Amino acid sequence: MTSAAQTSPAPASGQSSLLDVHRLRTHFELRQWGFLRAGTVHAVDDVSFQLNAGEAVAIVGESGCGKSSLARTLLGLYRPTSGTVRFAGESLSDLRGGALKAYRARVGYVQQDPYGALPPFLDIRRILAEPLIVHGIRNRQEQERRIDAALEEVGLTPATDTRGKFPHQLSGGQQQRVVIARALLLRPSMLIADEPVSMLDASVRVEILNLLHRVQQDHRLALIYITHDLSTVRHYVDRAMVMYGGKIVEQAPVEELLRHPLHPYTEALLGALGDPDPQNAGRFRAVPGGEPPSLVTPPAGCRFHPRCPIAQKGLCDSREPSTRTPRPNHPVDCWMRE
Ligand SMILES: Nc1ncnc2c1ncn2[C@@H]1O[C@H](COP(=O)(O)OP(=O)(O)OP(=O)(O)O)[C@@H](O)[C@H]1O
Ligand SMILES: [Mg+2]
Repeated sequence: MTSAAQTSPAPASGQSSLLDVHRLRTHFELRQWGFLRAGTVHAVDDVSFQLNAGEAVAIVGESGCGKSSLARTLLGLYRPTSGTVRFAGESLSDLRGGALKAYRARVGYVQQDPYGALPPFLDIRRILAEPLIVHGIRNRQEQERRIDAALEEVGLTPATDTRGKFPHQLSGGQQQRVVIARALLLRPSMLIADEPVSMLDASVRVEILNLLHRVQQDHRLALIYITHDLSTVRHYVDRAMVMYGGKIVEQAPVEELLRHPLHPYTEALLGALGDPDPQNAGRFRAVPGGEPPSLVTPPAGCRFHPRCPIAQKGLCDSREPSTRTPRPNHPVDCWMRE
């Protein structure tokens, strides 16, 4: 969204947000032959939002729109080009040494690919002991106790059946359960799950999403659930944000977004689901043709205009839309929505 002041629905009264992302940009320099500048990827481009303790939010958008770059910036794995990330009032860019380590303990990370997330030559006990050791928990009994509790919490019971196994001896769903157990080990207050089921067999996706939802509720975790599939958000999050071409173009409480999408891109995503809500039957156009925008040379004006069925010449193709809030708690970046 273009202007931070207008972007996020305000936190519920009396609450200060746990995470405050303000005009965040993460750009990557492209180099040819290692030294010639060949362009800049605008992967995250002026993103602002807030997240309350215990709140679950989805970030939805198609492949390459910058979701993982945003996640990795929030995790402190990429340094932002500009803008700020504040967590519990502290600016991420000010954290060093022990403070950065403490931040990493407070934010759990569930990657897209469980097969690549677990080191293949370590058994599960060793894999889970690692973050505990890094964070100073060296007592072997305490390690065992925490590891067993985490494995049992994610449904790998009895823990003794799983502890001595290597990742390749587990199914994809079981591996993702181990990844979730690892994310919970240090008792985080926020979880970032980046497409946590996209690599899994369809038969276990709902199980894993239900598990994430249960641990989010049980531990009152703030959750950022990243997905390209709008059909999976309804039961798992309070709020959804739609990302397009490195920007958040619309955000709203999830039922509001699904019933009254405002951005033509969100309408198209809903159209792709067929009939997400009987009330909306026949309302949505098909997914627009054309390619996702280049993030090296993004389209002028609204990044969606080349694919947009309602784009207006002389406006949408030349001027970047400002954020407007035509419905309460529902900001959108689109010239055509007053
Ligand atoms: N480390 C990097 N160096 C250069 N470019 C990068 C880097 N990481 C991501 N990109 C580029 O940034 C853009 C956004 O990528 P990103 O992985 O964030 O998208 P995504 O929305 O997570 O996609 P997907 O749904 O396929 O996972 C892409 O053009 C990608 O090639
Ligand atoms: Mg990604």
